[in-house]
Amino acid sequence: MKILFAASEAVPFVKTGGLADVIGSLPQALKELGHDVRVILPKYEDIPESYRDGMTLLDSFTVPVGWRNQYCGVEQLELEGVVYYFIDNEFYFRRKGIYGYGDDAERFVFFSRAVADAIPRLGFLPDIVHCNDWQTGLVPFCLKVHHGHQEEYARIRTVFTIHNLKYQGRFNRGLLQDLLGVGDEYFTADKLEFYGDGSCMKGGLVYSDAVTTVSPTYAEEIRTRAFGEGLDGMLRARGDDLLGILNGIDAADYDPMKDPNLAVPYRNSMAKKRLNKSRLQEEVGLPVREDVPLIGIVSRLVEQKGFDLIACVLDDILRLDVQLVVLGTGDRTYEELFRDAAGRYPDKLSANIRFHEPLSRRIYAGSDLFLMPSLFEPCGLGQLIALRYKAAPIVRETGGLKDTVQAFDELTGQGNGFSFANYNAHDMLYTIERAVKLYQDPKLWATLADNMGRKDFSWRRSAQQYASMYGKLLAERCLV
Ligand code: ADP
Ligand code: GLC
Repeated sequence: MKILFAASEAVPFVKTGGLADVIGSLPQALKELGHDVRVILPKYEDIPESYRDGMTLLDSFTVPVGWRNQYCGVEQLELEGVVYYFIDNEFYFRRKGIYGYGDDAERFVFFSRAVADAIPRLGFLPDIVHCNDWQTGLVPFCLKVHHGHQEEYARIRTVFTIHNLKYQGRFNRGLLQDLLGVGDEYFTADKLEFYGDGSCMKGGLVYSDAVTTVSPTYAEEIRTRAFGEGLDGMLRARGDDLLGILNGIDAADYDPMKDPNLAVPYRNSMAKKRLNKSRLQEEVGLPVREDVPLIGIVSRLVEQKGFDLIACVLDDILRLDVQLVVLGTGDRTYEELFRDAAGRYPDKLSANIRFHEPLSRRIYAGSDLFLMPSLFEPCGLGQLIALRYKAAPIVRETGGLKDTVQAFDELTGQGNGFSFANYNAHDMLYTIERAVKLYQDPKLWATLADNMGRKDFSWRRSAQQYASMYGKLLAERCLV
């Protein structure tokens, strides 16, 4: 099968979160199953120069955005056997950072339209166009509405994956309508209209041939009002069409035996892991102590990740004999929360308010525990990376966290981490206390550490599930 992934971020080019990890590794896994998989991304300023220098111009044309025609270059780069296309327009993408601009609606309408318009010029006619999150939600819309009548497009089937239903690309209706250059008939409640606004996410949900999300539990949760972000009715209506396929991680990239960022490579040796812990304590300015349980947090600092729970009992946590190392950026309140607490407990908490890939790896490697008490979590990769680096995850039982972490049971010796069910700060605190206590029992801890490596979270199985879904869509195409 020929598959084109469209997304707004991908490792190793640009990353703000797990979406980049997925787009950086799922195509490779599908390729290993024998498919021709390519990826199309915006050409951002933040893409390292070494990659930018290697790109070659494939074609250029103009893309209609409202009443204007905007330049669109398509550049190409091959990396580890996967072909990447980059949509070039300096006005939209030559800026620092990748999201959060006042004209994001226009930037990603442009990108979505550009992806759709570029298809006949790639020299690669995909069977499947697989879109991800709101930034590419309008690709299926543009394919059907702007190109549906063209023969070369007629056989393409589209898939839309929800990585996070909370971020919907909801903009002023008039603005979106103007940018897309379409009539009122597309802005009804069953199409792009959403509570008086226009929604890019709905473009993906309504106009794609299949909708998936990134874990089975989240697929169930978003059908309910509590998790549905106003779209649960529509998601329920898609019935069995909404499939939850668990994310994997790139097992070669996230491998403590081969990770060049670590002081000491290791896989099963807890002694070698402890050496990484001492080096981490030194690096982040915490007292070097082998016996103290070190809890790591690597995360966007946003409400989704459960920081309200942590805020509520942070002092109680820091009064335990533990150390906490935090790496993240996001909401000011949470950044201040950790900076302030680090000032009060300099020997217990290290607050690293930045985005730093190498340090993140050293935190996964150096931590004994990894805290991720999310309010909701479509899949979560942090806990999967933590498991791979043998930092026991402490999670709330929601979304992909529920699907990947099983609470350790001291009696049976089963389980790979710690978990609690209710979104309640004291339940979390109690769970942390239990984890800290278990850490003091080397025999039980060794069993837990062993269990952490037992489940395979590489992409192979999930890639097969995607491939079989694509296969079904194409088989249905033949029946039409
Ligand atoms: P989300 O995509 O919701 O942010 P995930 O757990 O799926 O959450 O993925 C987060 C990814 O981003 C992981 O690879 C994690 O290590 C990485 N990450 C998050 N914050 C930082 C940071 N400040 N520095 C480096 N990596 C980070
Ligand atoms: C989103 C979700 C996260 C998921 C990631 C990759 O950012 O918040 O749970 O792991 O996408 O699918």
